[in-house]
Amino acid sequence: MAFQIALVGKGGTGKTTIATLVIRYLLERGRTPILAVDADANSNLNDMLGVELRRTVGEAREEMKTSVPVGMTKEVFMEYKVQEALTECGGFDLLAMGRPEGPGCYCYANTLLSKYLGLLLKNYRYVVTDNEAGLEHISRLTTRDVELMLVVTDPTQRGITTAARIRDLTKELKLSVASLKVIVNRCPGEVDSLIIEQLERKGLELAGVVPMDELVLRFDLEGVPMIQLPPESPAVRAVSRIMDRILGAEATEDASWARGSENNWKNESVAL
Ligand SMILES: Nc1ncnc2c1ncn2[C@@H]1O[C@H](COP(=O)(O)OP(=O)(O)OP(=O)(O)O)[C@@H](O)[C@H]1O
Ligand SMILES: [Mg+2]
Repeated sequence: MAFQIALVGKGGTGKTTIATLVIRYLLERGRTPILAVDADANSNLNDMLGVELRRTVGEAREEMKTSVPVGMTKEVFMEYKVQEALTECGGFDLLAMGRPEGPGCYCYANTLLSKYLGLLLKNYRYVVTDNEAGLEHISRLTTRDVELMLVVTDPTQRGITTAARIRDLTKELKLSVASLKVIVNRCPGEVDSLIIEQLERKGLELAGVVPMDELVLRFDLEGVPMIQLPPESPAVRAVSRIMDRILGAEATEDASWARGSENNWKNESVAL
């Protein structure tokens, strides 16, 4: 069964950036196959991964209400559409959930969707989900059995308070989250002791700190996919250390895919 990692947190804290760097980490370690899930209706994980988005699961759900061809069952149609929404990239696949449902009843479509997404997840070793900002979206988490929930926050008291609310909500909603840890992102230097104290007071576990990284800003400015950040990027290094600590710094597994021709995420020619 896939090990599911979900990135959550308030708006603009760096969820999509960190999700991308987690995927980069897994790819680099040969911990594949990976499914990247963009659960944000304003999808942009694909941009950071350098992948063109074709269709979304939301579109499949809409089409099931109106466009099932005569002679095709809804089951077969949905299975086909979920496959169609899956973009295969070098070393990982990407699935964008798209918009939540509009007005009307989607019960049957959603039942079928859950079934096929459940089957799909079985094909992967890791599933990394980038979620929409805000608390209300937690209840719509695409991935139900989350092994690792990473709450991304900025280094502020308000940020930590939101992280604690997210933790409380996952408990209230009885989501199955095996481990919840906080990543303090865009730290201007050493993480302040006030932040550490507040995390402790709220009973939150710190996964680690990701520094403010000029390269991330530069890539964002130039529109270069974050997955192509060089190994010396402080953010890349910090996320690698965090993931090593969490997953165990196993010896690099078979990373032969990374040397293969399908390796389209790593573009050595990117000017820094
Ligand atoms: N460690 C970092 N150093 C510098 N800039 C960063 C860092 N992490 C993220 N950023 C920048 O912060 C901005 C927000 O990042 P990102 O889009 O990943 O956040 P988000 O939480 O996914 O936002 P949203 O809630 O809108 O989905 C981006 O411009 C990104 O480049
Ligand atoms: Mg985002």
